[in-house]
Amino acid sequence: MKIAFIGIGKLGFPCAVALAMKGHDVYGYDNDSRLIEGYERGEVTPFEPGLPEQYQSCRKRMHFCGSIDDAIAQSDHIFVAVPTPHAPMHDGSFPYDGVGRNFDNSIIRDCLVEVGRAIGKHAGDGRFRTILVISTTTPGTMVDDLGPATAKAVGLPIGSGWTMVYNPFFIGQSTVVKDFLNPEFVLLGVPQNDEGKIADLGRGEAISRELYGSLHSQPICPMTWTEAECVKLCYNTYLGLKVLFANTVMELCHRLPGASCDVVNATLKLAKDRLVSTKYMDGGMADGGPCHGRDQMAMSFVAQKLGLSFNIFDSINHGRDAQTSYLADLIQNEQKGRPVVLLGMAFKQGTNQTQGSPAILLANILQQRGVEPILHDPVIKPYTEMPVEPAVYFISTRWPEYKGFKFRKGDTVIDPWRMIKEVPAGVELIPIGVGAPGRQTAGHISTALISATEAKPTKRVRAAS
Ligand SMILES: NC(=O)c1ccc[n+]([C@@H]2O[C@H](COP(=O)([O-])OP(=O)(O)OC[C@H]3O[C@@H](n4cnc5c(N)ncnc54)[C@H](O)[C@@H]3O)[C@@H](O)[C@H]2O)c1
Repeated sequence: MKIAFIGIGKLGFPCAVALAMKGHDVYGYDNDSRLIEGYERGEVTPFEPGLPEQYQSCRKRMHFCGSIDDAIAQSDHIFVAVPTPHAPMHDGSFPYDGVGRNFDNSIIRDCLVEVGRAIGKHAGDGRFRTILVISTTTPGTMVDDLGPATAKAVGLPIGSGWTMVYNPFFIGQSTVVKDFLNPEFVLLGVPQNDEGKIADLGRGEAISRELYGSLHSQPICPMTWTEAECVKLCYNTYLGLKVLFANTVMELCHRLPGASCDVVNATLKLAKDRLVSTKYMDGGMADGGPCHGRDQMAMSFVAQKLGLSFNIFDSINHGRDAQTSYLADLIQNEQKGRPVVLLGMAFKQGTNQTQGSPAILLANILQQRGVEPILHDPVIKPYTEMPVEPAVYFISTRWPEYKGFKFRKGDTVIDPWRMIKEVPAGVELIPIGVGAPGRQTAGHISTALISATEAKPTKRVRAAS
């Protein structure tokens, strides 16, 4: 099949490679010309294990275009994966200020208008074109905004030589190709007219089924545009809720002598019938990454707009900050004049992404309290100079490299993952989530929520990703 891919960044490029690996001709376009030049030289910008080799295996089917029009002229299917950003202050690496915010839809709207114009220009060339929108949008955006803007730009109604499917992916950074080719299910939001009848007479669904049938045999779930927008964001925000709960178990056990969160969570995971899956049920750092924190904030905006009786998304965001503040409390409690080193900056192991990283959120909270943490990451900042004197080390990203880290006499190691099993003599290890005798009397300082006014960072800890 001939497939255009508009927006070939962290998500788009690995997915475009996956399509080419499956034998499709991909016509990629990105308005960042340096990115395209790099791809043309064979350089792979997104940090994804295995991606350079995968790209090499299918380079002859990857074609780079100079414009959206070029890409669309040659294609029947048009994936669009451009950003729907929040301002950096609201990406989840700073405390939440209690205000729900929608995604900024200006980039995706402008891009779809350009796609629409190109489709209108090439109408009548015998191709039926399907736009598959991947970018994350809040419920109602396709119906109220993006669908009408695109239709106006095409100049023809949906169903007349073109259609538009809302097709968000459930993909994790560092496993993009694998997740794209082995999804739990595929969401197909298809257009409906006012009477609830399918306006494109089912063509968008049929065409997308054929496309995905060439990639895998996972379930395809057709629904309305708005339902697909709901599923995408409810899925991501529910994961945040699970992490919040698992971290509550961690804090609970940390305060209870004789309790380990690993035992409690491992047993809860046996309840597969009623508690669903075992994933995201380990205590550790807060949920993060380029999507999840922002998705909570966008859904909080939707909840406010619709006047929901309880804004769970707002609570999840506050909970995420409160639990990270609790980790900052533990660090400060142990500091005793020593430097603080955060081991890990990426939002999870296996990626170089710091957007929405709970490690950076923790660093920002510490900075607001006057503690200047030293930051290390085996990929992002591997050459950090470590203190020569004894220090407090906190494992903020679960990189396996830290299992072999050389701690020295007088150091304290705080481990929210409980991944460090042994330390040399003279090093104190504090696994979070394992209640030790006497811990409750050790005098924890308050875990009070950071207020909106305190939430304004004086200095930003932002690492290039
Ligand atoms: N990264 C993920 O794992 C993931 C998962 C699910 C959904 N999403 C969603 O997918 C969208 C893209 O995410 P991403 O992480 O790939 O972002 P990204 O910033 O890494 O990539 C987007 C690319 O689009 C390009 N772009 C911007 N405007 C353009 C235009 N008019 N024409 C062509 N290219 C343009 C940018 O230069 C960039 O390379 C977002 O809405 C995001 O929320 C991302």
